[in-house]
Amino acid sequence: MSIVSSVNHILPIAASMEPPRLQGAAISGLGFYVPDRILTNSELAERVDTSDEWIQSRTGIRERHIAAPHEATSDLALIAAHRALKNAGVDAADLDLILCATSTGDYVWPATACIIQDKLGAKHAAAFDLSAACSGFCYGLATAAGFIQTGAMKKILVIGADALSKHLNWDDRSTCILFGDGAGAAVLTPCSAGCGILSSTLGSDGSGLESVWLAAGGTRTPITTEVLDKKLNCLAMRGKEVYRFALEMVPAAIYEALKRVCRSPEDISLLVLHQANSRIIEAVSERLGMNPDRVFMNLDRYGNTSAASIPIALTEADEQGRMKKDDIIVTVGFGAGLTWAVNVIRWN
Ligand code: UT7
Repeated sequence: MSIVSSVNHILPIAASMEPPRLQGAAISGLGFYVPDRILTNSELAERVDTSDEWIQSRTGIRERHIAAPHEATSDLALIAAHRALKNAGVDAADLDLILCATSTGDYVWPATACIIQDKLGAKHAAAFDLSAACSGFCYGLATAAGFIQTGAMKKILVIGADALSKHLNWDDRSTCILFGDGAGAAVLTPCSAGCGILSSTLGSDGSGLESVWLAAGGTRTPITTEVLDKKLNCLAMRGKEVYRFALEMVPAAIYEALKRVCRSPEDISLLVLHQANSRIIEAVSERLGMNPDRVFMNLDRYGNTSAASIPIALTEADEQGRMKKDDIIVTVGFGAGLTWAVNVIRWN
């Protein structure tokens, strides 16, 4: 169906020989969902050699939500998607595309987006997953905006969803304390030029592959009993490397994205950074010269929810009335790959 709708939009342009006219792409509805089960720092301290004091002072996290054994990523995503569609006043049957950013899909393949497409009854939507780890939702916004700005599509659901708890080594105190499960979704629709997503800066550095990764389960290292014994089927991270990478790349990428639309950090009404570590968020804000009142933080309650962190934060910021018409909102993802992504959005 998406092929048909693209052709329908492209043909009149080709016939009249006019260059495609770019329009805007706006977020017109948001929603999120986190599982019911809350896991506190104190509970973790009963399992591994850690403490509430260490976790809070080094990361800012107090608690996180963990999916139940029967809950898969698409289950979280589906609820977030329903909420975003309701908030946008958009019918699932009218969606042109469902794009699910995730590193923890229900299956190796096919795409989790296809499961969501079926359960939503989005009969006319194309569907695919996007793998850019914690940057995934911001990559997804940029991708969806491109489809809308060229006129190829009109209604796109972008989801960021992860259930990393299913891939953690719960005996590794350096990683199991950081992550939580959740999903967030945004509906993108056309708007007038100069509004909505103004610019995006996307980047990658694959040389940092092993800084944060899940080594086994793909075609390079299939699952064997030896792999399971060595816990290679679980997330592994060199935290300090990722920390340094974030502080080096993120401020530069934000400056770059702002420069493209002739803006500077003073113009930012709200900075929504990937919720990985409060010290990273504070250090980046400081480098941009931004006061904490213009920086969103909710990782104390959710931990690092990977691709879900930005849409969960955006939804809560919206619910708290922290984003007003014409405000400049900057969303920033960074993580495995290594990858990073910035979107500059004029809210409407
Ligand atoms: O979304 C993916 C992106 N990931 C990130 O953004 C993560 C970025 N990195 C970080 O957030 C931080 O590096 C961490 C929070 C992961 C770690 O904080 P750190 O200040 O870099 O600590 P560290 O790894 O240097 O460890 C300091 C000490 C070590 O002990 P020694 O060697 O000094 O005796 C660790 O063994 O803290 C120890 N440690 C812990 N102690 C208590 C590590 N984890 C824990 C723990 N509880 N959970």
